Amino acid sequence: MKQGATKYHLLTFGCQMNKYDSERIESVLLDGGFQSVGDLNDADVIVLNTCSIREKAEQKVFSKIGRLAALKKKNGNLLIALGGCMATLRKENIFRRAPSVDILFGPDSFNSLPRLIEDRRVTGERQIDVGFDGGTEWRAPPPSVRPGKVTAWVGIMKGCDNRCTYCVVPDTRGPEVSRTPESILDEVEDLAGRGFKEINLLGQNVNSYGKGLGRGINFPKLLRTVSEVDGIKRIRFITSHPKDLSDELIEVMATVDKVCPWLHLPLQAGSDRILKMMNRKYTAKEYLNKIDKLNAAVPGIAISTDIMVGFPSETEEEFEETLNVMEKARFDALYLFNFSPRPGTPAAGYEKPASREVSQSRFDRALEFHKGIVAEVYGREIGKRVEVLCEGHYSEKTNGCGREMFGKTPENRIVTLFSDNAATGKLLSVDIKSVMGYIFKGEVLEPEN
Ligand code: SAH
Ligand code: SF4
Ligand code: F3S
Repeated sequence: MKQGATKYHLLTFGCQMNKYDSERIESVLLDGGFQSVGDLNDADVIVLNTCSIREKAEQKVFSKIGRLAALKKKNGNLLIALGGCMATLRKENIFRRAPSVDILFGPDSFNSLPRLIEDRRVTGERQIDVGFDGGTEWRAPPPSVRPGKVTAWVGIMKGCDNRCTYCVVPDTRGPEVSRTPESILDEVEDLAGRGFKEINLLGQNVNSYGKGLGRGINFPKLLRTVSEVDGIKRIRFITSHPKDLSDELIEVMATVDKVCPWLHLPLQAGSDRILKMMNRKYTAKEYLNKIDKLNAAVPGIAISTDIMVGFPSETEEEFEETLNVMEKARFDALYLFNFSPRPGTPAAGYEKPASREVSQSRFDRALEFHKGIVAEVYGREIGKRVEVLCEGHYSEKTNGCGREMFGKTPENRIVTLFSDNAATGKLLSVDIKSVMGYIFKGEVLEPEN
């Protein structure tokens, strides 16, 4: 242990963007001479990177802080720093609800964290830094510290300009701003140099990447540029907004080998009236037309989605329209949510909110319906030979072929298999033997490279 270094423990809640941000937070702290500790009890500072997307996400954080407050009683010097989306959404109100919080810092203030910690110590005053960086270019330095070995996040833009009526992200993350293609390329080349094989390009709406940079670059062009980096074998990206999914992007998915045949395309709802109330700017038919185009251009493509049930005033028939779209789209994976009214969003004030029971019953039915689709879609994979990028250990189980490892197919399906440690980071040729729920079991033929 380094003598005298401030010890921190970081807890991450929320989406992939927060996971990437947590890498940036760790980088700032480690580069600033802090030391990471695995046990909360050893920490001088506990950093929480938080999420506000639904009420439950915030409740999780508040109950965690409640437990941390007890630690503070034992260790009078312990500081709690709360960062990320809750910090920008709730601002100093957090101090009232959770008095044990010492520091609030937003997604654009990670670099200030060491200074905020120092200032809190020196002045004894609580610190808050939750503003957004202005400008037309996202200049935040990428993480210098990278956990993992095989697959990495790469933020390409921050914020969101869409204003879906239920969503807090435009408030928590501010307006949409893109990074330059040069800085993205530098990051991807650095990752390739460190031996990473797969990158996941991140943004709330990657399809509007480049808007505002004034450089004539757009997302499909960025994908082409990034695909030229040697060493990177697979490229994925999230999230695509259906209204902005262009023919040019479909063309890149169809022709650039490294771009995986997987697309996360949030539907939200199948009823045009609800979609309009959500301000999603597409109809169910337009959504399904895009799926048809994708299936025609990229045979075998897997499409995953987000769906929300129980939006205010959603009728039984309108919920069934969501099931109808699910029936046609045959989603490979589904992230399902009960609508949660969020502060400051228009939908929080909409009439006829669904009762908890109605929303949960729709949730359960949609999940059940999707299970049937997955059983059929995944069942068809059994017996096929697929390419799996091995990401590491899955469990402690062993057999004659080694430890239980896991990886993903290009379609983002998870496969477990038995192999040795050397398989990590390799593209394996795998025979699919069976499936349990959402996880496939496979048998390795031989490493491809
Ligand atoms: N930018 C991404 C998604 C961000 S949030 C996109 O537009 O697709 C991830 C998902 O959380 C959303 O797709 C939506 O399904 C869900 N979500 C957002 N706000 C919500 C709310 N108020 N209640 C329930 N689910 C919500
Ligand atoms: Fe939220 Fe809509 Fe923006 Fe996604 S596109 S982050 S759902 S406002
Ligand atoms: Fe992500 Fe949650 Fe913020 S979903 S963008 S961490 S509100």
